Amino acid sequence: MIAAYSASSQARVNAALETLFTAPSPELARLYEAMRYSVMNGGKRVRPLLAYAACEALGGKPEQANGAACAVELIHAYSLVHDDLPAMDDDDLRRGQPTTHKKFDEACAILAGDGLQSLAFSALLDPRLSSSDAEIRLQMVSALALAAGPAGMVGGQAIDLGSVGLKLDQKALEYMHRHKTGALIEVSVKLGALASGRAEEDELKYLQTYAQAIGLAFQVQDDILDVESDTATLGKRQGADIARDKPTYPALLGLEAAKAYALELRDQALHALRPFDAAAEPLRDLARYIVDRRS
Ligand code: IPE
Ligand code: IPE
Ligand code: MG
Ligand code: MG
Ligand code: MG
Repeated sequence: MIAAYSASSQARVNAALETLFTAPSPELARLYEAMRYSVMNGGKRVRPLLAYAACEALGGKPEQANGAACAVELIHAYSLVHDDLPAMDDDDLRRGQPTTHKKFDEACAILAGDGLQSLAFSALLDPRLSSSDAEIRLQMVSALALAAGPAGMVGGQAIDLGSVGLKLDQKALEYMHRHKTGALIEVSVKLGALASGRAEEDELKYLQTYAQAIGLAFQVQDDILDVESDTATLGKRQGADIARDKPTYPALLGLEAAKAYALELRDQALHALRPFDAAAEPLRDLARYIVDRRS
C-alpha cells in the first residue's frame, strides 16, 4: 500500500472518529471511555481506507466519505470487542493492548460494543461528517444494516462459533468468511462509492466484484497470519485459531494452498477494476496490500 495514502487516510478518519466520544453527562464517562478505548487504539483502518479509495475511484473527494469511513470502522470496532469476549473467542490482547473486557469489564465491553454499533449509524447520518443527500444516506443506512446484521457479519459470526471443532468443506468455509468479514469489507467499498454522489449501476457492479474478492482474501490472509506471524507483530495472540480448533483456510487447504488462494483472489479483484482509470490506483494498491500484509 502506498504509505503516504494510507497515512493521510488514517489521519483523516482518526480526526473524524475522535469527535464522536464526548460523554453527554459525567455518569456516562466510563462507557464513553470504553468506546473510545476500543476505537482509538491503532487499528489499520483498512475499511475506512477502502471507503475513501472507492469514493476517489469514482472522482469524488475523500472527505465526502468521512461519514462512511467512520461508520464502517465503528461497526468493525464493535465486532472486535464482542469477538474477543469470553463467550466468543475469549482473547486478552487486541491491537497490542488488553481487550476491552480485560481493561474494563465484561458488561462494560458488551455495552461499549452495542454503543459503537449505534454510533456507526449516527455517523452515517451526521451532517458534520458528510453532505450526501437524503436518498443516498438512505441507501447507505440500508446497505450497512444489511451487511452488519444477521444476514451479514452477525450471521457469519454465528456460523463461526457454531463450527468450532467441525470440519467444514471449502464451500461452507467460504460462506462463513464471506459473511463474517467479507460483508463489511464489501459495504465499505459500496458506501465510499455512494458517498461520491456519482456511482452508476455498472460501476457499482464492478466495485462489488472487486470487494467480494478482497473481502474473502482479507479473512484468508487473517487465517494465514494466525499460523505464521507472531503475537508482537499481530497485536493479538498468534495461534489462537489453532488452539481453539477454528475452521480456517490453512486448516482446510494447508498453508501453501491458502496462500495461493489469497493471491488468486487478489488477481480477481484487480481484474474487476480494469474498466477504471488511474483514480482507482489506491483501490488496486489496497488489494495488493491485503494479501501482502504481515499484521
Ligand atoms: C481483524 O481485522 C478481524 C477480521 C475481520 C479478520 P483487522 O485486521 O482489520 O483488524 P485491525 O482493525 O487492524 O485491528
Ligand atoms: C473476526 O474474525 C471477524 C469479526 C470480528 C466479525 P476473527 O475472530 O478471525 O478475528 P481476529 O483474528 O480475532 O482478529
Ligand atoms: Mg472470531
Ligand atoms: Mg477473534
Ligand atoms: Mg482471526
